[in-house]
Amino acid sequence: IARFPVIKVKGVPLMSHIAYNWDSIWAFRPDPSDLLIATYPKAGTTWTQEIIDLLLHNGDAEACKRAPTPVRSPFLEIYSPPPIPSGLELLSKMDPPRLIKTHLPFQLVPPAFWENKCKTIYVARNAKDNLVSYYYFDCMNQTQPEPGPWEGYIHKFMRGELSWGSWYEHVKGYWLEREKRNILYLFYEDMKENPRREVERIMKYLDLSVSEDVINHIVELTSFKIMKENPMTNYSCVPSPVFNHSISPFMRKGEVGDWKNHFTPEQSKMFDDDYATQMKDVNIPFRTLI
Ligand code: A3P
Repeated sequence: IARFPVIKVKGVPLMSHIAYNWDSIWAFRPDPSDLLIATYPKAGTTWTQEIIDLLLHNGDAEACKRAPTPVRSPFLEIYSPPPIPSGLELLSKMDPPRLIKTHLPFQLVPPAFWENKCKTIYVARNAKDNLVSYYYFDCMNQTQPEPGPWEGYIHKFMRGELSWGSWYEHVKGYWLEREKRNILYLFYEDMKENPRREVERIMKYLDLSVSEDVINHIVELTSFKIMKENPMTNYSCVPSPVFNHSISPFMRKGEVGDWKNHFTPEQSKMFDDDYATQMKDVNIPFRTLI
């Protein structure tokens, strides 16, 4: 196992195995019924995947388990650490409608998704908590680039040097296209505040209709506590040496505001000043503190 370096594709640093296989990813053609879930890493991807998967299976967790992948939905990439087969390999074996996950920024999403008007759900999380979660992930995932010390990591995040590129450009890219492309833009903090409301929003966007009881059941099954114990969602299927769960579990804390336990007041001020500059051209209603 080696930590992959990042290589730029159209100016965006991507993990090398994605960059090397870029042509096949860019040429990927989804079915119009396929559904895309897009996020900057650590924004709540797995949580949202679990909600969608359960909604598509009318809350039947056993039916979800019969899906042909040990994790919730294929990742739009070529390489996956064993024993998980690569995303494109899995997708070719599945019948649409398929739930497809990506961390690609908007401008790098294969254009056939937009030509085919695929439904797209984007999840965004406030920058500071997203950064903290990514830091722990880069420490535990032995294929991610070396995170280095915390202080330097903050700067890498601010400069957009982490894999999948700039958080700022990522959240803005989908935000600015959400109306034109009919993207459902969700916030992690809203999901924490009122998971039921957000499950219902997803259900309506997908033109699904499930009973009140099923909604309650889905909210329960997608709580942090239950997902942490669920082998379908806690990534225990990716063991050491790829994911070193003893450094940090995948389902780590699942809270809003954990950044306060990591940023010093000086780091926070420096980050906020830079944030104001990088985000001055948009008004995305992030809630960093609840
Ligand atoms: P933390 O590291 O802050 O705990 P992703 O799936 O995009 O990689 O995001 C992972 C983050 O989402 C982790 O954040 C994880 O704990 C959190 N998460 C996953 N499921 C959750 C749930 N049901 N409720 C709240 N947070 C959840």
